[in-house]
Order: sequence, then C-alpha cells, then structure tokens
Amino acid sequence: MSQESREQRRANVIEVLNKARAMELHAIAQYMNQHYNLDNMDYGDMAAKVKLIAIDEMRHAEMFAERIAELGGEPVAEPAGTAEKGQLVRVVFSFDANLEDFTIDTYNEFLLVCRENADSTSVKLFEQIIDEEQVHFNYFDNVSAHIDQLGETYLAQIAGTPSTTGLQTRGFVARFGSGGAPAAAPGAGAAPGRPAG
Ligand SMILES: [Fe+2]
Ligand SMILES: [Fe+2]
Repeated sequence: MSQESREQRRANVIEVLNKARAMELHAIAQYMNQHYNLDNMDYGDMAAKVKLIAIDEMRHAEMFAERIAELGGEPVAEPAGTAEKGQLVRVVFSFDANLEDFTIDTYNEFLLVCRENADSTSVKLFEQIIDEEQVHFNYFDNVSAHIDQLGETYLAQIAGTPSTTGLQTRGFVARFGSGGAPAAAPGAGAAPGRPAG
C-alpha cells in the first residue's frame, strides 16, 4: 500500500472511477447508435440485444457515479470518446468486441489502482463490472465469428426478426447470463441464448 495520505488515496480511486464512468458514457452512446442503426437495417434480434447491452452500460455508469459520490467526488458527465455512426453490420460486432476487450483490460488496471489505494469496495465494483463486460465481449465475439464464417447465410437468419424488448429495464446480463448469441446453422459452434430465470 502506498504511503500517501488517506485523502490522496481517495482522490486516486475517484480518478479511475471517473475514467471508467466516462468510458461507460461513451459505450452507451455507441451502442444506442448501433441499436437504431441495426433496427433500420432490419436486423431486429441484433438491435434488441445491443439495446439491452446499452442498458447494462447505463447501470454501470450509475454504479460508478454512486461510488464516486460516496467517496465525496463529482461524477463526470463527458464521455471518453465520440460514437462512430453509420457502421455496416459487418463492422459493428468486431468493433464492439474490441471495445469490450479494451474495457476489460483497462478496468483490470483500474482495479489494481483501487487495491493499491486500499479501497476494497471499489475493487469489488470493478470485479463485478469486469465480469459483465466479459459477457458482452462473448456475445459480440460470437456474432462477429458467425458473420465472418457464415456471412450472408447468418445475416439472412437475423433479417426481419423482431427488435422489441418490452418495457422492462432489465439489461442483457440479467436476461442472458453468459450466452445471448442466437443459434446459427447447426455445427457452427453457436452458443444458444439462455434466458435468465
Ligand atoms: Fe460497462
Ligand atoms: Fe460492456
């Protein structure tokens, strides 16, 4: 543990919590844009799942803000980056898998900062959120692999599927746990969606 004052240690933790919050705000804007975009292209099932993942990111942004406020800090409102617009369906899922992969890596570094500054509550917060980002990564990576391997055959299965998610605010992790990718053609290695109880 560092020899810094309690106040300084607390400031170090608030700094990484705010960096994470800004990354969540960026992810929300990105995934909401993709949700509308995929819905316009008539890939309903993908649009619905990306929307549910955006809802997870909203919850993460709130969890970070609540912890920042608890520590006496001010949660940032500016996203870490601007959303890419008008992405083609072939771009979306590998782009998002990379974004989640980068997030997991960065949050693991932030978790170490929390540990070095002796804040076990913030360590646990990062642990929980990293696990959820892993669920998002698995979905994006699965879909990206299906598109790479099966191309139009896979996309044709998705075209015209409904994009409704109802009025519930439960996000992707609560509904699908570690699965969520729609089954592709038999033998394609797809992980079927598993509704959470
Ligand atoms: Fe997140
Ligand atoms: Fe995520």
